[in-house]
Amino acid sequence: MQHQRRIFIFVGALFVLALFFKFSGHRKSLQFRYSGGSLTGEPPSYDALHEWEKNLPQHNMSLPRPEGKNGRYVKFSNQIKALGWNNVLNEILLCTHLAYESKRAYVFQDYYWKPEYYPWRITIQPWENGPRWPQTPINALISGPTAGGPWDDGDSAPRSVNEAYFDQVCPPEDRDIIDTDTIKPDLQDAEGDVILRRWTEVIRDSPKRCVEVVPGRNDNFPQTFDLWLIGYKRLLSLWPVFKDSPTSRLFGTAPLVASAVDRNEYLFMPRGSRPARYGPHDPYERMMALHVRRGDFEEACYGLARWNSTFYGWNQLPVHLDKFTPPPGGSWGENIPENIAFYLEHCYPNFDAIVQKIQDTKNSYINNGTNRVLDVMYLLTNADNQWVNNFKDVMMSQGWSTIVTSKDLVLDDEQIGVNMAVDMEIARKAAVFIGNGWSSFTSNIIHRRLVDDKEPFANRFW
Ligand SMILES: *[C@@H]1O[C@H](CO)[C@@H](O)[C@H](O)[C@H]1NC(C)=O
Ligand SMILES: *[C@@H]1O[C@H](CO)[C@@H](O)[C@H](O)[C@H]1NC(C)=O
Ligand SMILES: *[C@@H]1O[C@H](CO)[C@@H](O)[C@H](O)[C@H]1NC(C)=O
Repeated sequence: MQHQRRIFIFVGALFVLALFFKFSGHRKSLQFRYSGGSLTGEPPSYDALHEWEKNLPQHNMSLPRPEGKNGRYVKFSNQIKALGWNNVLNEILLCTHLAYESKRAYVFQDYYWKPEYYPWRITIQPWENGPRWPQTPINALISGPTAGGPWDDGDSAPRSVNEAYFDQVCPPEDRDIIDTDTIKPDLQDAEGDVILRRWTEVIRDSPKRCVEVVPGRNDNFPQTFDLWLIGYKRLLSLWPVFKDSPTSRLFGTAPLVASAVDRNEYLFMPRGSRPARYGPHDPYERMMALHVRRGDFEEACYGLARWNSTFYGWNQLPVHLDKFTPPPGGSWGENIPENIAFYLEHCYPNFDAIVQKIQDTKNSYINNGTNRVLDVMYLLTNADNQWVNNFKDVMMSQGWSTIVTSKDLVLDDEQIGVNMAVDMEIARKAAVFIGNGWSSFTSNIIHRRLVDDKEPFANRFW
């Protein structure tokens, strides 16, 4: 009897437990939540690359100053994380230059993904509030001094180091912690070159061997070079110095990215009927790359119009042929219909406008040289297949015999994990590029194209 009763209680308890899971647990523990993209399976770990970074020659305490255990370092713990790659990239390049001017080694960090942009599915565990931020080693995405590469011959500047080495070589007692709230309020409306100079003084002249810049609590955008600078004309006073800086000049393509471009080069070889003249054998010399944002980007363009946004970053430089000046009219957070239409023309051009712009751009580029050929097109777009197929048909009829889109590339998992950098590298190499003036992706492509000395007819905006 006793025994039976125990079993009865036990079964009852199980039943209650089951109910508990059904009603309360169900929401939390049984319903899986996801973020990230549609790829399933194990994302690449880049373990070998992390190991390679760990073993960089500058990670050596015995090196003489300004490296080694008596060296000088600066870590920007206020760098943005979990945002798009291009918002991160323009900031880390400027921070590297600031570290260089301050005669300290820059501390590089992994790229932390905005989970929604990560190509692989991220399962959010029941006990987690939100998705983890996947990480990619910086050397998978870029090369050059920012990522620990060498400076110019004869330049004694210390090489960049990783975070783990910084923690080892910079114990807390050797660190000067600088809160952005103590510096940035005075710089709110300052020109870019003034901001650089002020931070250089602060970081260079710190009495400590190591400096760590930390985000201020009162600052919603606590980066050293934040959106209020990069999104405005005040950025441009930095250009003369930044363009020729070793950080810009020596900024390079990561071997992994280059490998992804190389393996796909077959796709860019010109097709079509046998031409009267072959023209350049390098397919990039005959390529026009296009950054065409479709889909939900229209919504973003309305926002830009409402807030009267100028072009972004280096897209604002006066050297460009296509300039955008916000038209007069409108008020705080509102704009008039004519102005909104004007924004959309450039931010979200319609099919015919795109076709026309391509034709005009091709003509002016061809006419600015001799023996130029443009017949290879690379399309960077999030448009749907129907739009792309229709577009391809029209382009084919206008003499573009080879049209490749990002979706056509064959990539392995490690390369998929850096596919935005792969697209950017192809757009950098292309003879002509048409981008979106409000886009940080376009701005970073333009940066490298300007450092590569591409002519103004080759760098265009819708
Ligand atoms: C570290 O640097 C010292 C001094 O330059 C050098 O003798 C030594 O070989 C280096 N160690 C490694 C592992 O490279
Ligand atoms: C946008 O900027 C222009 C030029 O600075 C100005 O005339 C106009 O009133 C502004 N419009 C809005 C909506 O803020
Ligand atoms: C191309 O354009 C630039 C100005 O953007 C000009 O200086 C150069 O002479 C032009 N070249 C030719 C061959 O027309």
